[in-house]
Amino acid sequence: MEPSPPGGLDVSTAGRADASSEDLRDASRPAAGDTCAWCREPIPDGRRKDSITCSRRCRQARWRFRQEVERLELAERALRLAVADPPYPGLAHLYRDHPDFAGEVDHASLLQELDGFDGWALCTSSEALPSVLPLCPNPAQVRIAAWVRGSRSGRARGPLSSWEPVIYKPARDVVSTRQPDDSLVYTARPRLTDPGWVIGAKPAAFASWVFSLLGARSGDELHDLFPGSGGIARAWRAATEAC
Ligand SMILES: C[S@@+](CC[C@H](N)C(=O)[O-])C[C@H]1O[C@@H](n2cnc3c(N)ncnc32)[C@H](O)[C@@H]1O
Repeated sequence: MEPSPPGGLDVSTAGRADASSEDLRDASRPAAGDTCAWCREPIPDGRRKDSITCSRRCRQARWRFRQEVERLELAERALRLAVADPPYPGLAHLYRDHPDFAGEVDHASLLQELDGFDGWALCTSSEALPSVLPLCPNPAQVRIAAWVRGSRSGRARGPLSSWEPVIYKPARDVVSTRQPDDSLVYTARPRLTDPGWVIGAKPAAFASWVFSLLGARSGDELHDLFPGSGGIARAWRAATEAC
């Protein structure tokens, strides 16, 4: 049986939709006036001195997130990894109100940048895959994994897309015991407790799976090139830091 978070699990509020963001400070005890390790709002006066979240809801959401991330072994030699989750080609306009919006992403130069890392993963759409793949500087080194996320409603010229290709170059050839497959079947839902949530934000389970595709190890350096909600970096902390 799954262990419960400290203080017990409130099943009325801790559904899977809330299980997907977490803490950048993790193990550190907050100073007075510190911010919540989940929603980043100030922790109100009167909370226990060792509280790192502002409410039971946030504590449970953080706990759920961490449960979905596999802890990584320590690296013998630290490597540089990158995760790139840009807007799908042709759909950058969905982010035009975001502060980091800079028009369509140049995938050719992005792939050149990724080629400088020991291991990397690039999320794209199934529709764009045929045009993105030839842009890889070393196509023979890359592999394609599939995140089956379930179909999105909306109009389409053909069958609705229900999966997302992840083009990746592993940093190490290792097989995770918990996540050995190059496909992930997982339906993501909006993170209702995360004020930083953006369209296309990846769930913790996705981030953890990508780390396993890359052969990531604790002590590696992870660069999240399109942070959005910051969920990938949060998952990295959960995977590599002590609880
Ligand atoms: C798919 S989201 C990333 C989601 C992120 N992986 C997460 O889990 O929350 C794409 C992000 O790229 C940003 N973005 C949009 N256009 C961009 C551009 N031209 N250059 C850099 N970032 C851009 C968007 O604002 C958005 O935060």
